[in-house]
Amino acid sequence: MQSKILLLAALSAVAQARFGVEGAAQAGIQALSAFGAPGAAGTLAGQTPGVLLAGANACAKLSLADEIVSQLGTDPEVLAGAAALVAAEKNFNPNAQSIPTLCSDASLPATAALRGIVPLVDPSVGGADIENALSAQSLKQPLDATGLSVADIVTANGFTNFTAQAAA
Ligand SMILES: *[C@@H]1O[C@H](CO)[C@@H](O)[C@H](O)[C@H]1NC(C)=O
Repeated sequence: MQSKILLLAALSAVAQARFGVEGAAQAGIQALSAFGAPGAAGTLAGQTPGVLLAGANACAKLSLADEIVSQLGTDPEVLAGAAALVAAEKNFNPNAQSIPTLCSDASLPATAALRGIVPLVDPSVGGADIENALSAQSLKQPLDATGLSVADIVTANGFTNFTAQAAA
């Protein structure tokens, strides 16, 4: 009994830590209020949770990242916020799926500075250690994305345990 409670507490701590990672993408966009039209950053930040839902199309957050740059500009702070969204983990419902979905549209994201960045995946997925290391690395030094979708890029770099999904 005691160990069950401890396990639940540990799982909940992990879930909260991971939720924090997802919430960080939204907070990062919210913080860009000095850029773009008044209220634009707030509106874009408000769209962030929707593209990170488990059921969201895997390409939707890439389109939103492009939209962020198109509305707020190419200041390094804006690019960093948009890059964090590209790298963010999409929610994962283990009851509905066993492997994550990644975007197979090679035209996304369109913003050159956002290409070659790949997302985190749920740590419980087989091969997630490879993917999550790639994601961290790609934020520092983008991976080769020439003509490649996010799904193609990670495949080329050794992570294949996902379902490719075209833009809606
Ligand atoms: C993919 O991940 C699922 C869920 O973690 C796991 O059951 C499966 O063994 C993995 N497959 C490969 C090829 O790593």
